[in-house]
Amino acid sequence: MDLNAVNTINNHELVKFKGFKLIMGIHDPEDVDQICNLEIRDSDVFVVTYPKSGTIWMQQILLLVEAKGDLAAISTFSNSELIPWIELDGRRQAFITAPSPRLRVTHLQYKFMPAALRQKKGKVIYVARNPKDVLVSYFHFHNIANMLETPKDFADFFEKFLRGDVFGCSWFEHIKTWCSQKDDMNMLFITYEEMIQDLKSAVERISVFMERELTDEQLANVVKYSTFKNMKKIPQANYEHVSPKMFSQHRGRFMRKGTIGDWKNHFTVAQNERFDEVFHREMKDCALSFIWDIR
Ligand code: A3P
Repeated sequence: MDLNAVNTINNHELVKFKGFKLIMGIHDPEDVDQICNLEIRDSDVFVVTYPKSGTIWMQQILLLVEAKGDLAAISTFSNSELIPWIELDGRRQAFITAPSPRLRVTHLQYKFMPAALRQKKGKVIYVARNPKDVLVSYFHFHNIANMLETPKDFADFFEKFLRGDVFGCSWFEHIKTWCSQKDDMNMLFITYEEMIQDLKSAVERISVFMERELTDEQLANVVKYSTFKNMKKIPQANYEHVSPKMFSQHRGRFMRKGTIGDWKNHFTVAQNERFDEVFHREMKDCALSFIWDIR
């Protein structure tokens, strides 16, 4: 590990590497630094998310699409083993020799990812979520995830999120840098809110993008087993069995509420105004339009 490139930051749980914050003990900066050199096959699929935007939901959908809605066919291993995070320690090496199709998730910023993606090799599914709901979900997640600092209180976490002082760094930078390159990549851009509002249409779009034809019955089964209510009951999908060393699930569940607009139960009027101001400043030159009502 090149220690010169690693700066320990305040809370001693995140390391700053090339302007991005990684989690100590979970990510190896040297390994992350090699991801950009990976050779990409046309059949590779990367699900890209800022944390708390619907990563494990998309894992379940992709696995079900691949299995044509047959839940039993994907029940032997946990979803995180079947679609691992590429940036986790040791996963890059495993990716090199893994059989196709190689499905992976990542929270990394654009600059760390394989350059071949920009030559339209492989596929990228970017899942975005209203950053206000991301912030709330991330706050609660920090209370159960032992590798992350327990927030002092919501107000303190609110400021940290806006500063990008969390794993994933700035939500704004993450989405802007990925989406500014979307025409160079085979990218499907989809939002958590679209999936909540019409899961069937979202699954149809995903299966077309994945070039997987599903019958009506298969499609219905993918939708059925990826609803919040059903996923909560599926151990390999709901992250309930992650080691207590990682998650203290007596303090809260990974699959917490699964709704849109929970920020309204957390933000003060002043926090909301401040968030809107930062959002508009950061996103003013961004060509994306979002379906959520930021106000
Ligand atoms: P909440 O904390 O708001 O409930 P990630 O997988 O990127 O960490 O995102 C976690 C968020 O996605 C959590 O949000 C979780 O409940 C939600 N989620 C997971 N599966 C879902 C599903 N099937 N439907 C809706 N939301 C889901």
